[in-house]
Amino acid sequence: MTRIQAFSTKPSNTRMHWLLLIYVCLGFLTYVVTSPVTYENVRGTPYNVSYDPRAITINGVRTMLISGAIHYPRSTPGMWPYIMKMAKNQGLNTVQTYVFWNIHEQKPGVFDFSGRANLSQFLQDAADAGLFVNLRIGPYVCAEWNYGGLPAWLNQIPNISFRSNNDPWKTAMRTFVMKIIEYVNPYLAKNGGPIILAQIENEYNGNDQAYVDWCGSLVTNELSSTQIPWIMCNGHAANSTIETCNSCNCLDDGWIDSHHKNSPDKPMLFTENEGWFQQWGDAFAIRTTADVAYSVAEWFAGGGSYHSYYMWHGGNNYGRTAASGITTIYADDVLLHADGTPNEPKYTQLSRLQHLISNYAQVLLSQNSTRTPLPYWDGQKWSTGTQQFVYSYPPSLHFISNQNDNTFGVLFRNKNISMTGHSVRIFDDNLNLLWDSTNVSDIRSDNTEIFPIVIGPLEWRTWSEPVTSNLPVLTSLYPTEQLKITNDETIYLWYRRNVTLTQTQSHTLVRVETRKANALLFFLSGEYLGEFDNHDHSQGSLTATISLDLSAFKPNQQYLFEILSISLGIDNGIWENNFDYKGIVGNIWLNDQLLVNDETNLWEHQKGLIGEYFQIYTEQGSSKVEWNTQWTKGINKPITWFQARFNLDHIVREDLNVNPILLDARGLNRGHAFINGNDLGLYWLLQGVCHDSTPCCCQQAQINCLEPTQRYYHIPSDWLMPENNLLTIFDDLGAPSPGSVGIVQRVVVA
Ligand SMILES: *[C@@H]1O[C@H](CO)[C@@H](O)[C@H](O)[C@H]1NC(C)=O
Ligand SMILES: *[C@@H]1O[C@H](CO)[C@@H](O)[C@H](O)[C@H]1NC(C)=O
Ligand SMILES: *[C@@H]1O[C@H](CO)[C@@H](O)[C@H](O)[C@H]1NC(C)=O
Ligand SMILES: *[C@@H]1O[C@H](CO)[C@@H](O)[C@H](O)[C@H]1NC(C)=O
Ligand SMILES: *[C@@H]1O[C@H](CO)[C@@H](O)[C@H](O)[C@H]1NC(C)=O
Ligand SMILES: *[C@@H]1O[C@H](CO)[C@@H](O)[C@H](O)[C@H]1NC(C)=O
Ligand SMILES: *[C@@H]1O[C@H](CO)[C@@H](O)[C@H](O)[C@H]1NC(C)=O
Ligand SMILES: *[C@@H]1O[C@H](CO)[C@@H](O)[C@H](O)[C@H]1NC(C)=O
Repeated sequence: MTRIQAFSTKPSNTRMHWLLLIYVCLGFLTYVVTSPVTYENVRGTPYNVSYDPRAITINGVRTMLISGAIHYPRSTPGMWPYIMKMAKNQGLNTVQTYVFWNIHEQKPGVFDFSGRANLSQFLQDAADAGLFVNLRIGPYVCAEWNYGGLPAWLNQIPNISFRSNNDPWKTAMRTFVMKIIEYVNPYLAKNGGPIILAQIENEYNGNDQAYVDWCGSLVTNELSSTQIPWIMCNGHAANSTIETCNSCNCLDDGWIDSHHKNSPDKPMLFTENEGWFQQWGDAFAIRTTADVAYSVAEWFAGGGSYHSYYMWHGGNNYGRTAASGITTIYADDVLLHADGTPNEPKYTQLSRLQHLISNYAQVLLSQNSTRTPLPYWDGQKWSTGTQQFVYSYPPSLHFISNQNDNTFGVLFRNKNISMTGHSVRIFDDNLNLLWDSTNVSDIRSDNTEIFPIVIGPLEWRTWSEPVTSNLPVLTSLYPTEQLKITNDETIYLWYRRNVTLTQTQSHTLVRVETRKANALLFFLSGEYLGEFDNHDHSQGSLTATISLDLSAFKPNQQYLFEILSISLGIDNGIWENNFDYKGIVGNIWLNDQLLVNDETNLWEHQKGLIGEYFQIYTEQGSSKVEWNTQWTKGINKPITWFQARFNLDHIVREDLNVNPILLDARGLNRGHAFINGNDLGLYWLLQGVCHDSTPCCCQQAQINCLEPTQRYYHIPSDWLMPENNLLTIFDDLGAPSPGSVGIVQRVVVA
């Protein structure tokens, strides 16, 4: 089916662009640089995308792709045009996104492309901003996203083995990929749209060559009609695809050298320059501006022709989209913060580099990278080593790089240039300094301030989630694995069973065979007794062991024993013959009393909460329960709903994308917050710990030790109204101080 083309076909000034010579005057020398190819040059008319050993080509012209990852469901349609505009201004000409299968097909065969899942709207917004798109379909996505993007119902397909040469998997994967290609067809380059590059599979590091070849045959057969190059990143790549790099530094880690050896006929593409992510219980980790700047500059110096930040804007894991143990804020320490404010000095420092690279793109792409070692001052004499280089692009540009940890004087054209450890300086031919990776002295980093919007305690009312209900239940001899019942349509599952207590000690040991990234709340006869949680960012089974005080109960008497299981995200590590599960996955004991396989005491399972069933967080559902205005009775009370209203009419309503509104969750414990029916995601005031060792991966330091892992939660502009906003909280552990909860605004102060 063909859709009506929706691109604004502006009067074509393509030719003019091509003929336009931009004279850049720097010092005494005048450069002649042609304008690089941008999406505006080709928008609205069919164009060709291919590649040569140096770069991706657009209508035969080598094009420097300066890209950043922005995941559409991690922001909202009301934010997308703003984010795209910022991306363009900051110097990107391309955006990259994964495609998230499990938001599009939550039930088999039922597709959803509305709201945050409106991929075509996102592509249109990129096109409108003049940005190319790299679409990474996967369908497996290693994005710290719930189940790596796979729908939980895949677990139930007989004999399926994910990401392998397995017929049920290949059928499911092919069906989804073809569905997406059909859906995005109007946005492909051949139809004048912004999509110039696509990805099949993702970070495949398994041993199944037959599967890799099958991915390759998909690209050469069914997917060849897309007429764009396909990539496979950071792992095995099929012959018909371009293998790309994901790393902190693709030059220093040797990727560039191995690419020259293995794929000399293909351009060098950097799909993920990592900004990493946060986990519950860990303090905030950062990657320094100098390190990112060094890595990006080295990449372009070394001959790279596509670079993408992962992420450029991380956004937020709204709803229940975070993978195991991952915070709601996603990759906040990247160029644009999770709430949409610029992360300075990174934002400006890299913007300068990107504009420079873009202005000199023709010079860079007209030649191969050449590397010449430079002498360094060893204290006594000039020595030549293997860590100080110049990458020259005559006649205009020289990248000087020091790959050593320490500062050295480096000799270039008889000039002694001081180079700090891991740094790049870019010079013109007259040795005028154009950019220095380490120098951010003129960039203001305290560029935002937080102001309270709603002062004083909100006028809360509360409602206690009932421990028992007459919702339909499923019964079985053994507790049933959670996803099998919930299909992950809710993170909550109640397990209930009658038990006759044999002993009632003050230290009764409960042991439950459960999974990582899962919480369990225990109740006896409606009374909350305690909880267990694990918030690892991983998967696997474990035995939850917790001591409960049963001394208030009577022996030899029957009680209703209940466990509320809460999924804290399905792990995104997906490989062959490997499934993640949630809830109770084995036995359960009260001391030595085994609570399974008893025909007179079956297990009942209730999918979700009553509050969810009535959707009491919506305007319509809110009236279905009786709220109590004596909200202080809800303090420290587990499984309690709080609701309040607030106005934004008394604030100057500047663009709420520029100066975002945040929920200050101080005083809460753990749960979900909803604004006008929209789920902001899991909040948790869990303390963040700083580790002794250097943080993992590309990060250099941790900050905010022993502060809550995440205190502020972004509220998208399009979920807010000037008046009468409905804020609903479900706190599962019990909120110690709901009176402290606030609504604040983060204001950019130029
Ligand atoms: C695109 O490629 C086709 C086939 O190779 C060619 O006929 C056409 O002229 C190309 N278009 C442009 C704008 O380069
Ligand atoms: C996606 O967005 C477009 C443009 O706003 C709109 O016309 C379309 O109806 C949306 N799709 C869905 C499924 O909501
Ligand atoms: C699953 O595999 C088993 C053993 O390999 C086979 O007997 C069975 O028919 C398969 N089921 C389906 C639905 O393919
Ligand atoms: C891929 O290329 C390698 C090296 O040229 C070759 O040995 C292999 O057979 C190719 N695989 C396929 C599926 O074409
Ligand atoms: C540039 O490198 C490619 C291979 O990566 C090679 O085919 C080409 O000849 C080189 N060009 C020059 C001018 O050396
Ligand atoms: C080069 O500069 C370094 C400082 O960066 C200095 O220590 C060294 O003495 C200089 N060497 C020469 C030969 O001037
Ligand atoms: C850093 O840049 C500023 C402004 O561009 C400049 O004044 C200063 O001299 C530079 N510092 C160093 C150490 O190069
Ligand atoms: C527990 O027992 C009572 C009566 O003895 C019964 O009504 C109830 O359904 C039982 N609950 C479960 C979860 O089996």
